[in-house]
Amino acid sequence: MSGGTGAGPVGVALVGAGVISNQYLTALSGFPDVRVLGVADLDEERARAQAQAHGVPHSGGVASVLALPEVEIVVNLTVPAAHAEVATAALRAGKHVYGEKPLALAPVDGAKILAEAQEHGLRVGSAPDTFLGAGLQSAARAVASGLIGEPVSATAVTQGPGPESWHPSPEFLFQHGAGPLFDIGPYYLTALVALFGPVARVSATARQARARRVIGSGPKAGTEFAVEVPTHVHALLDFTGGPSASATFSFDSSVPRRMIEVTGTEGTLSLPDPNTFEGPLRVRAFGQEEWRELPVTGTTAGRGIGVLDMARAIRGGDEHRASGDLAQHVLELMSTVADSARRHEVLALESAAPRVELLPEGWEPAEATLG
Ligand SMILES: NC(=O)c1ccc[n+]([C@@H]2O[C@H](COP(=O)([O-])OP(=O)(O)OC[C@H]3O[C@@H](n4cnc5c(N)ncnc54)[C@H](O)[C@@H]3O)[C@@H](O)[C@H]2O)c1
Repeated sequence: MSGGTGAGPVGVALVGAGVISNQYLTALSGFPDVRVLGVADLDEERARAQAQAHGVPHSGGVASVLALPEVEIVVNLTVPAAHAEVATAALRAGKHVYGEKPLALAPVDGAKILAEAQEHGLRVGSAPDTFLGAGLQSAARAVASGLIGEPVSATAVTQGPGPESWHPSPEFLFQHGAGPLFDIGPYYLTALVALFGPVARVSATARQARARRVIGSGPKAGTEFAVEVPTHVHALLDFTGGPSASATFSFDSSVPRRMIEVTGTEGTLSLPDPNTFEGPLRVRAFGQEEWRELPVTGTTAGRGIGVLDMARAIRGGDEHRASGDLAQHVLELMSTVADSARRHEVLALESAAPRVELLPEGWEPAEATLG
């Protein structure tokens, strides 16, 4: 792993100044170990407005932030179709890259990003970083402590009517690289892979309730657009280490529901929504009639803690947790689920997943650790 070359806070630039950039800019501005130096977008006016709103000194086109010598990490917040292109450009400019999910549209593109990084001695990180938040870290500690015994299975459900009601440009969320499997799936699947390790094989079915949807908010409200991907997916997963899981990803339900439960030989743990950083976390042992609430400790600083963990690892030479290798396994998993549904076959995975170490107790984003 590359690291230990510089000193002090790590310079960061954002590429993509859309909806999610607010959360990153807010969180990263509060971390003394990183310094946000630039915001870029195809729409330079949008980049300028976001930079101004968050006190970032530079804004402009992508090439202009890649040319800033103090920028060490490019945070890629573009739409999925642009993830590989922007990541590759950043790596070729000598920058580490941390991107929003999914890593790329297809595993072959993810593999190219990882190979490019390796060639240049640079790092790749990827969202989601919710598994580093207080809720899922507390869950991982509970499982590691043996609270539910030996993990045996998991059940995950994420369903609702879909994001076109609130996202002002939701078309990309219904195109290749998104849909409920690739857009929301990464939160659930990364949480499960972080707990259980890699998936060995999958089988799946998929459906699409409607071929067209209508934008519900913003300047394009009322505009119809085409749905290009399945919007209801059921998957069965066999983990290499033994446990199995069932997972449902849907934008086709009028009933919002998000749940993820892990069952072991001694009881069941109810995890928080893995698209959040908080609790609640509950356990119910065999023979108990009620759930028992568990304490949740750790950071709730939000999207960007994976960038901070990577920044600190760059200085310290350690492994970062929200890694490109983990995201590549999750990408291969989602892609294999989609293939399994298309082909009506049980399919095996090829990639491994790195073991994800817990964050140390007391890991604090607001603390300056890099001098
Ligand atoms: N919106 C959310 O709630 C949310 C939550 C978590 C993760 N994400 C992820 O964040 C990413 C961005 O989502 P969003 O909702 O902010 O999208 P968005 O459409 O609001 O913003 C994307 C921005 O990227 C810019 N862009 C596209 N291609 C580019 C390129 N080649 N170079 C430079 N800029 C480019 C667009 O001009 C746009 O401003 C996606 O991967 C999405 O899955 C979004």
